[in-house]
Amino acid sequence: MRVLLFVCFLILINLITTSARSVHEYSKLGTNGGSNCAVCTVVLGLAEQLSVIHNETVTKGLERLCKFLPEPYQGACKEFADFIAADIIRTFSKDDTADTACHKMSFCFTEPKSEMCHIFPLKSKQRNQLEFIQAHTPRRVGIKICDLPGIKSICGLIDHVFSKHDPAVDLDGDFYSVYQTLRGTSWRGKDCDDGRKSVHPGAKPIDHDKGSDSNCNGIYGMNPASGRSYEDELCGASQPRGVAVLGDSISAHFHLPREWFNSTELSLKAFESLPFILENELDWPEFSTVTAFMNDTHKFHDILHGPVDSVYKRMFNRNHCNHRDYQNIAVNGARSSSMADTIQFSFRRNITHDQPVVVFYALVGNDVCNGHHDTFNHMTTVEEMKNKSVTTLNYLAKTLPKGSHVFITGLANGAVLYNSLSDRIHPIGSLRNDVTYSDFYDYFNCLEISPCLGWMNTNATIRELTTKRAMELSEALKEVVTTHQSSFSNFKLHYVVNPIDQVLDEWKKQGGEDWQLLEPVDGFHSNQLGQALTAAAIWENLEKMFPDALGPVNPNNAKIKSMFGNQGGYI
Ligand SMILES: *[C@@H]1O[C@H](CO)[C@@H](O)[C@H](O)[C@H]1NC(C)=O
Ligand SMILES: *[C@@H]1O[C@H](CO)[C@@H](O)[C@H](O)[C@H]1NC(C)=O
Ligand SMILES: *[C@@H]1O[C@H](CO)[C@@H](O)[C@H](O)[C@H]1NC(C)=O
Ligand SMILES: *[C@@H]1O[C@H](CO)[C@@H](O)[C@H](O)[C@H]1NC(C)=O
Ligand SMILES: *[C@@H]1O[C@H](CO)[C@@H](O)[C@H](O)[C@H]1NC(C)=O
Ligand SMILES: *[C@@H]1O[C@H](CO)[C@@H](O)[C@H](O)[C@H]1NC(C)=O
Repeated sequence: MRVLLFVCFLILINLITTSARSVHEYSKLGTNGGSNCAVCTVVLGLAEQLSVIHNETVTKGLERLCKFLPEPYQGACKEFADFIAADIIRTFSKDDTADTACHKMSFCFTEPKSEMCHIFPLKSKQRNQLEFIQAHTPRRVGIKICDLPGIKSICGLIDHVFSKHDPAVDLDGDFYSVYQTLRGTSWRGKDCDDGRKSVHPGAKPIDHDKGSDSNCNGIYGMNPASGRSYEDELCGASQPRGVAVLGDSISAHFHLPREWFNSTELSLKAFESLPFILENELDWPEFSTVTAFMNDTHKFHDILHGPVDSVYKRMFNRNHCNHRDYQNIAVNGARSSSMADTIQFSFRRNITHDQPVVVFYALVGNDVCNGHHDTFNHMTTVEEMKNKSVTTLNYLAKTLPKGSHVFITGLANGAVLYNSLSDRIHPIGSLRNDVTYSDFYDYFNCLEISPCLGWMNTNATIRELTTKRAMELSEALKEVVTTHQSSFSNFKLHYVVNPIDQVLDEWKKQGGEDWQLLEPVDGFHSNQLGQALTAAAIWENLEKMFPDALGPVNPNNAKIKSMFGNQGGYI
C-alpha cells in the first residue's frame, strides 16, 4: 500500500517536476520530509481509519491495507509493515494522529522557520508535544522510503516503467506494439504485424492491401466482382487521417481512483487492476479526450466512472478507414521544455509513406505549475515558451505528411480548482469529514510537493498571478501561430483556446457544478466526465471552424462494418 501511495504521490510530483527522472530522485524532493512525509501520513492515516472502522490496532489496520493489494505489491507491503510494526506500536498512542506519528518516526520533520506540516487536524496537546520534540532533537535528515525493506525492489521496478515513454514491446521498431501497457495499444493503435516496420496504423496502403492489411485498419482483400481491392474501393477516396496528441497528464488522463484513498471504500476489487494501471503510469489514455477508443468504463466500473467520448472515436465514426490511427504522446508533468527536449521524439510519422495527421499540442498547465515556494521563479518565461513550442513545430515539420493539421491549445485557467473544491471534503478525510481540499493544498505546499502550488493555494494573490502568467504564455503560443502561419508546407497551424472554460460554462448552464468534472483525489485534473465533455467541445469547434481538418464523411462506413465487423478490434 505504502509503495502504491508513494508512487501515486511521486506521480503527482512528476506532474510538475521534469528534472527528476526516477523514483529515487523524486523521493528527495520537497521540504519538511517532502514526499516521504506525505506517503507516511496518508498510509498511516488510512491504516488508522481502518483500525477505527474494524476496532483493531493500527498495525492490524496496516496489515489489512496490505491485504487489499495484488502481488508483488502485497508482499512488499507486508515486509514493510513487519519492519515498521514495532515503531508504530512504540509511537502511535491513542492521542496520536498520522501526522504526529510520522513526525515521531522521522518521516516528517520541521525545518527551521517553517510551519509544522499536517493534513489532519492537530489538537493543541499534540502540537505542543511535537514542538517539544522538535526543539529538543537535533535537525533530522528524515527517512527515505525507497531505502526501506520491501520498498527498495518496488522502487526499482517502478523506475523502470516510468523512466521511458516509448513502447517497450516493439519488435520491428515502428513504435507500434501488440502489448497493451508500457506505451503499447493503450497509447497507440495496435500493430497488425510487429515483424514489419512498414506495416503499422496510419501507413499508406502497400500494394492496395490486396493480400494483407498494411495500415492495420482491418480492411484488405480483393473484390472479385470489380477486380479492385477493398482498401481502394472503400477507403481510396475517403482521405483517411490519424489523430495524435502531444500533451501532459490531462491528455494522458491521469486518474487515481477515489476508492484507493477513501477508508470506507477500500476493497480488494478496487486494487485488482493495479499492475495494469501502474504499467500505464496511472494514466488512462484509452478513455481520454483525444485518443479514447474504449466503448465504456465497464471493465473498470469500480474505479473509473463516467461516459467515454473522444476525438479519435469521432474521427473513426466519420471514416472507418481511420481505424486504429491514434497516438497519445502525453506524459505526466510534460511542459514545453520536456516536450521539445525529449518527449516529442516518441511521436512517429513517416512523412512520405503515412497518411496525414491531426495533431493537438496541449501543454495546458505545467509551464506555470510547480511545487516550489518561489513558484514564479520556476515558471516558463514567454521567451522560453516561444522557443520550445517552435522547436516542437520544427520537429513536426520533419515528420508530418502533407495535408496534416496542428492545433496549438492555450493553457487552462486553473483558478477554477480552488474556487470549486476548497471547502469540499477530500477522500482522505472520508471517515471523520475532517480534511478539506484547502487543508490538502496547504499540506502539499508546506511539504513543497504540490503539483501546482500557484493554483492550489489558499492565497488568492498567488492564484491570480499564476493565472496571469498562464494567460501570457497562451498569448505567446498565439503569437507563434500568427508569425509561423506560412512557415510549414505540410501542415496548417491553428491556435485554439483551451476548451475547459467552455466545457465548464456549458456544464453550469445545465445546472452542474465545477467539482463534478474534477478528479477527486488530486483535485487537479479533469475526470472521466470532464474528459468526455471536452472531446465533444473540441469536436464541435472543429466542425464549426476547421471542417477541412476532419475530412469528409465516408459513405462506405456501413459497408465496412458489415464486411469487416470490428476491423480487428483494438487490444
Ligand atoms: C473493540 O474491541 C475490544 C477488545 O479488542 C472490545 O473490548 C470492545 O468491546 C470492542 N468495541 C466494539 C465497539 O466492538
Ligand atoms: C518511410 O517509409 C519508407 C518505406 O517503408 C522507408 O523506406 C523510410 O525509411 C521511412 N522513413 C523514415 C524516416 O522512417
Ligand atoms: C465497441 O462496441 C462495438 C459494437 O458493439 C464493437 O464492435 C467494438 O469492438 C467495441 N469496441 C471496444 C474497444 O470494445
Ligand atoms: C531556442 O534557443 C536556443 C538557445 O538559445 C537556440 O539555439 C535555438 O535556436 C532556439 N530555437 C528556436 C526555435 O528559436
Ligand atoms: C467515501 O465513500 C463513502 C462510501 O461510498 C461515500 O459515501 C463518501 O462520499 C466518500 N467520501 C468522499 C469524500 O469521496
Ligand atoms: C499572498 O501572497 C502574496 C504574494 O506572495 C503576499 O504578498 C501576501 O502577503 C500573501 N497573503 C497572505 C494572506 O498570506
